[in-house]
Amino acid sequence: MKLTSRSVLRAVLVSTLVTATTGAAVLLATSANAGTTLGASAAESGRYFGTAVAAGRLGDSTYAGLLQREFDMVTAENEMKIDATEPNQNQFTYGNADRIVNLARSQGKRVRGHTLAWHSQQPGWMQNMSGSALRSAMLNHVTQVATYYRGKIYAWDVVNEAFQDGSSGARRDSNLQRTGNDWIEAAFRAARAADPGAKLCYNDYNTDDWTHAKTQAVYRLVQDFKQRGVPIDCVGLQSHFNSQSPVPGNYQTTLQNFANLGVDVQITELDIEGSGTAQAQNYERVVKACMAVTRCTGITVWGIRDTDSWRASGTPLLFDGSGNKKAAYTSTLNALNSGGPTVPTSTTTTTTPPTGPTTTTTTSVPGPGGCTASVSLNSWTGGFTATVKVTAGSSAINGWTVTLTLPSGSTVTNAWNADRSGNSGTIQWRNVSYNGRVAAGQSTEFGFQGNGVGTGMTPTCSAS
Ligand code: XIL
Repeated sequence: MKLTSRSVLRAVLVSTLVTATTGAAVLLATSANAGTTLGASAAESGRYFGTAVAAGRLGDSTYAGLLQREFDMVTAENEMKIDATEPNQNQFTYGNADRIVNLARSQGKRVRGHTLAWHSQQPGWMQNMSGSALRSAMLNHVTQVATYYRGKIYAWDVVNEAFQDGSSGARRDSNLQRTGNDWIEAAFRAARAADPGAKLCYNDYNTDDWTHAKTQAVYRLVQDFKQRGVPIDCVGLQSHFNSQSPVPGNYQTTLQNFANLGVDVQITELDIEGSGTAQAQNYERVVKACMAVTRCTGITVWGIRDTDSWRASGTPLLFDGSGNKKAAYTSTLNALNSGGPTVPTSTTTTTTPPTGPTTTTTTSVPGPGGCTASVSLNSWTGGFTATVKVTAGSSAINGWTVTLTLPSGSTVTNAWNADRSGNSGTIQWRNVSYNGRVAAGQSTEFGFQGNGVGTGMTPTCSAS
């Protein structure tokens, strides 16, 4: 285990002193498992380690046990796709997705939303639509689903797989593409409006090799969005590898080049077919590449055991069918523990100003009762979005209240992850049921959108 000050602190906080047979006192890390599980090891450098989860497998105790123990981020493998959440037009069903989201959140895990707009796994009614009716239906879908999950999603794969394979670098032909080339940015704008707190990602496969035309095309899309202020925060590389599509030698270069555009990079659906040492070495290369890129913020594997995989015959995952750790598990864990640049604890989400510049201000004031609060602001003419970060001091807290005063004339239009006392003037914000408890030194965030200006708000925090 790498002894960062954070890991030492955590080890001290959660450790048990046991006396070894020699009589010497040995410090054993227990519940936080820093350095001994994928999630805890990734967290040492501010990253996450996630998995795709299938609602139908949650009753399998081996599966559920590995999920609970090893992973701190969850993606629904199929349950948030369009055919699952809107099987009939304007009839939304969230049962299976909620089962996954609620379990994840009850275990303190975060959730990646997958996916809001995609040519595949569309319900029949959508497959049969075209033109402006389809465009409206797609935007309605994005808005409804992102609104339903507002405040619960760390990052959304807003658009999935919109580019063609091969050397053209062109968009993939699909009913969505035929509604007009701007369908991707329209989807991102709708997602931002519906859930300003979620990171918004473009996600694709065969975008791992920097020289590949598809990689270049996605790079140009992200570059264009950043230049024009279309909201985008992250790029997801699915990273499904096998002998036809091996881990490229320039994988880290690709991650770094995307990151250099000012977005987070996430490895979103990792699986690598193979076995034994060769597979273990490939996993090590992928994980080390992410660890070496500051804005590569996390890795998700596309399933838990080989038998859970959509490509089960290729045994592409980290646990065998019985739930035993494979060599690839060990090389992955070691690569996570070998360290790398730490991901900044919060990267500011940029909103799209309809007009005028975006400004960001952060203030931090110690509160009287064991917590601090800071605000980061995205402003445009006539409005703003504020994200408030609440950080516990040297002890865990069980609840918090943040007080801040809006500039006169400004009002809150909507908010997430906190209850509030009013919409203008001095407002008290209280934790909701799921985010009151914050461990020592850790943070939680709430946010709100408002009319008017948001500058100059100085929050104070008190803990209970
Ligand atoms: C796959 C699931 O794993 C399968 O269960 C399902 O039958 C098809 O979709 N790219 C993606 C994922 O973005 O949603 C896909 O998941 C795998 C490829």
